[in-house]
Amino acid sequence: MCKVDGKTKLTGIIGYPLEYTLSPVMHNAAFQYMGLNWCYLPLVVEEADIYRALDGLKALNFMGVNVTMPYKEAVMSFMDEMTSYAQIVGAVNTIHIQGERLVGYNTDGRGFISSLQQDAKFDPRGKGALIVGAGGAARAVAVSLALAGSSRIIVVNRTPERAQSLCQLLQGNFPSCEVKAMGMEGDLSGAFSEVELVVNATPIGMDPEKKEVPISTDFLGGWHLVCDLIYKPVETNFLQLAGKRGAHTLGGLGMLLHQGAASFEIWTNLDSPIKVMREALEKELGLR
Ligand SMILES: NC(=O)c1ccc[n+]([C@@H]2O[C@H](COP(=O)([O-])OP(=O)(O)OC[C@H]3O[C@@H](n4cnc5c(N)ncnc54)[C@H](OP(=O)(O)O)[C@@H]3O)[C@@H](O)[C@H]2O)c1
Repeated sequence: MCKVDGKTKLTGIIGYPLEYTLSPVMHNAAFQYMGLNWCYLPLVVEEADIYRALDGLKALNFMGVNVTMPYKEAVMSFMDEMTSYAQIVGAVNTIHIQGERLVGYNTDGRGFISSLQQDAKFDPRGKGALIVGAGGAARAVAVSLALAGSSRIIVVNRTPERAQSLCQLLQGNFPSCEVKAMGMEGDLSGAFSEVELVVNATPIGMDPEKKEVPISTDFLGGWHLVCDLIYKPVETNFLQLAGKRGAHTLGGLGMLLHQGAASFEIWTNLDSPIKVMREALEKELGLR
């Protein structure tokens, strides 16, 4: 745990609930390794208190915070400035507190792309992707894939209207990327044959007992990389079944790590100690 004294600089994460967050472990290990007198705290905030909490962070001289469910969209209206990426995605997961100013970033997409490239050695440029889900994480993944040069993005969602609105957002910002919105019902076999990357951006699979999958694995094959944004369990039922069909697989732990590393760099202006952060996460999850 971090040593705390009168000179300690504070960071943390706001969300509700936060019982299972892995971010404090990862960031405190990084601060300790880098010899920084900084500390990262879980900050449980109820919905009605968001504005007071953000204002309080300024008064308490916090350096910055991460924002998690369910507040990534809600905090946007309190930002003094936001990156264009966060504005397009419509969600903020990292706030840099600069005196009286709150500057909003979204590092989820960068985390996803870094994990794709570094952990799975996959370059999305010129490739097609099928994303299951159309919520905040799906938006970050879709926009970052389009920015990274994906040629085709198919969004499949339980509520088709949300898939359509994500596709409209992509079409408006990335006209050269071919987009298609689909509901869960109907024949998806053609969609799988048009893509190399399949991403689960829904919470389906978080409960390993239920053995649920977000979408059928029948049309997966050895030419697919299948990613699940879920990191607990480390390997979801979806990834296990995809692996059995010969697909390459990637869990969500790398995305968590790389989005956290990007937040660390925004706050400290230092390179993040990725290896130490990964070790801390893996130790916490019992993988070491
Ligand atoms: N690895 C990481 O660093 C990282 C970062 C961010 C998020 N995540 C994970 O990504 C997942 C999605 O997060 P989010 O922030 O995007 O959540 P969100 O905004 O609430 O969106 C959830 C999405 O999942 C769909 N969905 C939820 N329950 C469903 C069900 N029972 N059947 C079919 N579809 C269902 C929703 O469909 P509707 O539109 O029909 O409601 C929506 O598209 C979570 O598991 C989260 O933990 C991981």
